[in-house]
Amino acid sequence: MLPETLLCLLNAGIALAQAKQQLPLNSNSQFSPSNPPNPPVFSLPTAANLTITVALCSSTNSPPKFFVTNSSSAGVPGPGGGDDVFEIAVEEGHGSWTGIFDDGGVLAVQDIGQTSFELGISDQGPIHELLSNSDLPLLGDTTSNQALIFSPAFAEEVEPRPTYPNYTLPSANSSQRSAPSGSPNFTLILSPTSSSSPLTALPQTGCMLSSQRSTGTLSSQNFWLRDTKGWRNQWLIEALTPATNYTAYVVQDRTKVSGPIHFVTKSASFACPLVFNLPYCPNVAYTVPLPQPPTTAGSNAYTALNLPDEITKPLLAYLTNFTTTLTTFACGRDWYSPIVGCDDCQREYRKWLCTITFTRCGEPSPANPRSFTSSPAPPDATGLSALHPKDPSAPPQRVFSALLPQSTDIAKARSRTLPAMGSAYAMLLPCLEVCTAVDRACPSLVGFTCPTVQFNAAASYGVGYSDSAEGEQGEGATGAAQDRWGNIWCNGG
Ligand SMILES: *[C@@H]1O[C@H](CO)[C@@H](O)[C@H](O)[C@H]1NC(C)=O
Ligand SMILES: *[C@@H]1O[C@H](CO)[C@@H](O)[C@H](O)[C@H]1NC(C)=O
Ligand SMILES: *[C@@H]1O[C@H](CO)[C@@H](O)[C@H](O)[C@H]1NC(C)=O
Ligand SMILES: *[C@@H]1O[C@H](CO)[C@@H](O)[C@H](O)[C@H]1NC(C)=O
Ligand SMILES: *[C@@H]1O[C@H](CO)[C@@H](O)[C@H](O)[C@H]1NC(C)=O
Ligand SMILES: *[C@@H]1O[C@H](CO)[C@@H](O)[C@H](O)[C@H]1NC(C)=O
Ligand SMILES: *[C@@H]1O[C@H](CO)[C@@H](O)[C@H](O)[C@H]1NC(C)=O
Repeated sequence: MLPETLLCLLNAGIALAQAKQQLPLNSNSQFSPSNPPNPPVFSLPTAANLTITVALCSSTNSPPKFFVTNSSSAGVPGPGGGDDVFEIAVEEGHGSWTGIFDDGGVLAVQDIGQTSFELGISDQGPIHELLSNSDLPLLGDTTSNQALIFSPAFAEEVEPRPTYPNYTLPSANSSQRSAPSGSPNFTLILSPTSSSSPLTALPQTGCMLSSQRSTGTLSSQNFWLRDTKGWRNQWLIEALTPATNYTAYVVQDRTKVSGPIHFVTKSASFACPLVFNLPYCPNVAYTVPLPQPPTTAGSNAYTALNLPDEITKPLLAYLTNFTTTLTTFACGRDWYSPIVGCDDCQREYRKWLCTITFTRCGEPSPANPRSFTSSPAPPDATGLSALHPKDPSAPPQRVFSALLPQSTDIAKARSRTLPAMGSAYAMLLPCLEVCTAVDRACPSLVGFTCPTVQFNAAASYGVGYSDSAEGEQGEGATGAAQDRWGNIWCNGG
């Protein structure tokens, strides 16, 4: 015979069990003051591995609390705890709990107040997520009032390797394939960075961020296969303010948050236009010392549609010749390496050739105006070093960008195929790693070599950023060509 109080509790539990709303599997449920959960108790489906995620969609000083149980006998879970009763910790607006729900379970929400929130129930990984730092948005480049930004890569494109006897490499004038179907919906949210930035103070959730007004005007948006990491969404944003630090987030399907990153627009006098959307040079997405593009193109940038033939023709000719030479080697038969093939060699050569052909412009960061070397490197230099130990005015471990001031004299410009821009600019040297990648991927018979200590050309690469000056991979001063704070050290291609 059960005590009477326990019987009452059990009855209350049964009554609630009948009123409970079922949260469907693999879906996201939205609640707001006009659509509150009533009662705020949900039954959960049976699953071997269920992930419950919470996202707050409004700011509040007293956030609701979320309790879950995977026990069929625990009743309504709450702060009193009990066997198999857990509280879902909510941080920066996100909460997540994963566990075994062999008998289903119950989710209860307390102290809802006027808060809007979402509940994601899934057996295929979390629905709401703050993506990790390896999945940040990627800055292409900025002008004084434009920014080219990429989402994190979302779908890898696995190309079948060509095989002997039909060893066919992509043509020099290759085109982009069509984006995978079912691609996610991406939203870019931009705001000027400030100590009271409206974005960083909010819950860092998809529903909250995507409800915010984004700065600037969207000029174009498309999917782009930039490199082997996979497809990305690409945005060109215009009408930004010169020399301004911006904060950017990318939200995927209103639920997964990537960011924040920072970037800085160039000063008002910066004259180099953006070049991007070149199928044969998919990595090029930065400013290049060219005359202003013809205004007929709609937006103020160069793409494959309005880039002069004088640039494209020699580039494709070089690439065609290289590919012809490459395929005279035993591609696909006698492997010169177990891990790389002629296809890798061609891809890395293409990236190098594009990076060299399209000289990149740059500018010292306004926050760090002296962080580049103002005196041209001597003709026998092997490249600009990330750390300038010989500069007497610089503290020894300050990192410098690989920027080289250029006069209007075209003969001194690195790339001979670019028409003169007609004004001075600063060139951001390619990272040496763009070259060493070709060296590593290509058969030694091709004869491609990168500058070493005895290199005799003028300063031509940024050295010591990703890899150390001695060539140890990942041991450089910054570990990358650019960072999430808006610093760009060298042209990573
Ligand atoms: C509830 O979750 C706990 C912890 O994950 C697990 O040990 C237990 O087996 C689960 N109970 C049921 C009935 O699934
Ligand atoms: C359960 O799902 C989570 C999220 O997808 C995953 O990280 C974890 O490895 C899974 N656990 C099991 C036992 O499958
Ligand atoms: C060789 O491969 C290319 C690309 O993979 C294909 O288009 C072509 O039809 C193939 N040729 C033969 C003879 O199999
Ligand atoms: C490259 O291909 C595109 C379309 O595939 C074509 O319009 C363009 O003329 C080609 N460029 C050259 C230099 O052959
Ligand atoms: C993307 O958004 C559009 C319109 O808002 C919608 O119709 C579509 O279903 C969404 N796609 C995905 C994968 O969420
Ligand atoms: C490509 O090869 C052909 C034939 O060998 C040669 O005439 C031409 O100059 C080469 N073009 C380039 C850009 O190297
Ligand atoms: C942009 O602002 C952020 C936040 O104040 C700062 O950490 C970052 O260094 C700034 N970026 C540049 C390039 O000045």
